[in-house]
Amino acid sequence: MAESSQSSQSTEDVFTSLLYEIFTSPLNLFLLVVCAVLVYKIFRPSDAYSADFGPVEPPLPKMKRQDLTLDQLKQYNGTDEHGRVCVAVNGKIFDVTRGKKFYGPGGRYSALAGRDATRALATFSADDVKDCYDDLSDLSSMQMDSVLEWEMQFTEKYDYIGKFLKPGEQPTEYSDEEDSTKDNNKTKKDE
Ligand code: HEM
Ligand SMILES: *[C@@H]1O[C@H](CO)[C@@H](O)[C@H](O)[C@H]1NC(C)=O
Ligand SMILES: *[C@@H]1O[C@H](CO)[C@@H](O)[C@H](O)[C@H]1NC(C)=O
Repeated sequence: MAESSQSSQSTEDVFTSLLYEIFTSPLNLFLLVVCAVLVYKIFRPSDAYSADFGPVEPPLPKMKRQDLTLDQLKQYNGTDEHGRVCVAVNGKIFDVTRGKKFYGPGGRYSALAGRDATRALATFSADDVKDCYDDLSDLSSMQMDSVLEWEMQFTEKYDYIGKFLKPGEQPTEYSDEEDSTKDNNKTKKDE
């Protein structure tokens, strides 16, 4: 911008001509809009932030420790009245309701909701999910390594619920007292 170097111009004039220049040049107008968008993006709480820390609804009570078959897991796809979402990763069930932005209906990874996400994570294709039980025996060791990394990430971020049962495998009996009542109290204290 070639602004007035003449000292004769009053501050007011400089200001008006600056405004005039900004609002009459399409390029400047465009840059102004870009700046406004960037500033908005910086100061707006991010999606990840609100998904992690600022849910509008109160958090659901912690799930009882339990093992689930694929058919049982399928009910936790985020569409029932509680909106609970669980996924299986490498034989472990996690309650990912906190990440509903990702896994809930309409989320980027909603294909994984209520499903065994292991293959999708291994192949890095969000909808590589089988309808029946998937024994994963064809995954390479490199793919299994990346699954282990994902598993660590889920373990850190989400609650572990129990084992993901193979067809015919029997669920472990967990004691209710230890795993639901006590955990519920703990959740309340923590949050
Ligand atoms: C163009 C492709 C992709 C982009 C740009 C992308 C981007 C992202 C970003 C930015 C996050 C972090 C979100 C956050 O924590 O705020 C994320 C998380 C994640 N992505 Fe992707 N992603 C892509 C493809 C995939 C694919 C193919 C998969 C396959 C399964 C995948 C699975 C995941 C999972 C499971 C998470 C973790 C969500 C959580 O914290 O629970 N992504 N992705
Ligand atoms: C979620 O599960 C219910 C039944 O458990 C089913 O009717 C519904 O179609 C599923 N929704 C999606 C998006 O998979
Ligand atoms: C919370 O813990 C107390 C004992 O510390 C127990 O009597 C009570 O039943 C628990 N309540 C819930 C809702 O978990």
